[in-house]
Amino acid sequence: MTGPGPSAVAAPLVELRGVGKSYGTIRALHDVDLTVRAGEVACVLGDNGAGKSTLIKIISGLHRHSEGELRIDGEPVRLGGPREALRRGIAAVYQDLATVTLMPVWRNFFLGSELTRGRWPFQWLDIPGMRRVADGELRAMGIALDDLDQPVGSLSGGQRQSVAIARAIHFGARVLILDEPTAALGVRQSGVVLKYIAAARERGLGVVLITHNPHHAHLVGDHFTVLRLGEVELSAPRADVTLDDLTLHMAGGAELAVLERELANGTTDSTADGTTDGTTDGTDGEDVTER
Ligand SMILES: Nc1ncnc2c1ncn2[C@@H]1O[C@H](COP(=O)(O)OP(=O)(O)OP(=O)(O)O)[C@@H](O)[C@H]1O
Ligand SMILES: [Mg+2]
Repeated sequence: MTGPGPSAVAAPLVELRGVGKSYGTIRALHDVDLTVRAGEVACVLGDNGAGKSTLIKIISGLHRHSEGELRIDGEPVRLGGPREALRRGIAAVYQDLATVTLMPVWRNFFLGSELTRGRWPFQWLDIPGMRRVADGELRAMGIALDDLDQPVGSLSGGQRQSVAIARAIHFGARVLILDEPTAALGVRQSGVVLKYIAAARERGLGVVLITHNPHHAHLVGDHFTVLRLGEVELSAPRADVTLDDLTLHMAGGAELAVLERELANGTTDSTADGTTDGTTDGTDGEDVTER
């Protein structure tokens, strides 16, 4: 669908090759490959604990990988922290957005990077400047807010995510990482966020979209990576994946087929198991050994 643009020749913005990560004895990721190109949305799907957040923490500099290679613009790197990632144009927007709900929209937009006028010690906040820039950036993304003076807390979840996306773009993000941006949102608000993800792609950013939702992924994704227990279960471009494929993978794929067989011919088995386990042998007095 995207066709061979400039991204086909330039090095990918971000590339993971054979990346692994262990937390002590827990192996959260093993041998993971992922490519993020300009003007593309790379979707990462997976069940709880599949390693999705670990993956984006590595890309955004919060965690170091323990195996494999992380390349940015073709160059192998070890990121020292999120600031270094940001300097290289990699910005992550998390579910629990770092916004101050009582502050106006324009103020949140510039939080930590306020525009000022004059010279120290005679510096003051450039409020009209910040309002104007925030307004321009939000409009450029097609985000229509009635009033930039309204507190961020009065925006809907989708609008808040959208403001965070516009903010990341304004401050120079080339790679935008979104961890489950639609998880807490209803259908309409999810649609709003997906629209801005598409808008970010149109502006040439590389987007990494983490989601549980195969429908959302399929609406905007150019490439799909499904993680399972820290390993890549599926990695395929849009042309090779249907929504049904994604849904099946997310539902457990092979496991689901086994479950289906069991349910079809084994309902009596499970009740028999239940009674033997629960009552006949459970007379030792230890009734709280639930597993
Ligand atoms: N800081 C940590 N210390 C120890 N183990 C961790 C840590 N972070 C994650 N893990 C483990 O690594 C594995 C992958 O976790 P991760 O949070 O990356 O999964 P996820 O796909 O984001 O899950 P979810 O959908 O629930 O957000 C899990 O087994 C988790 O318990
Ligand atoms: Mg997670």
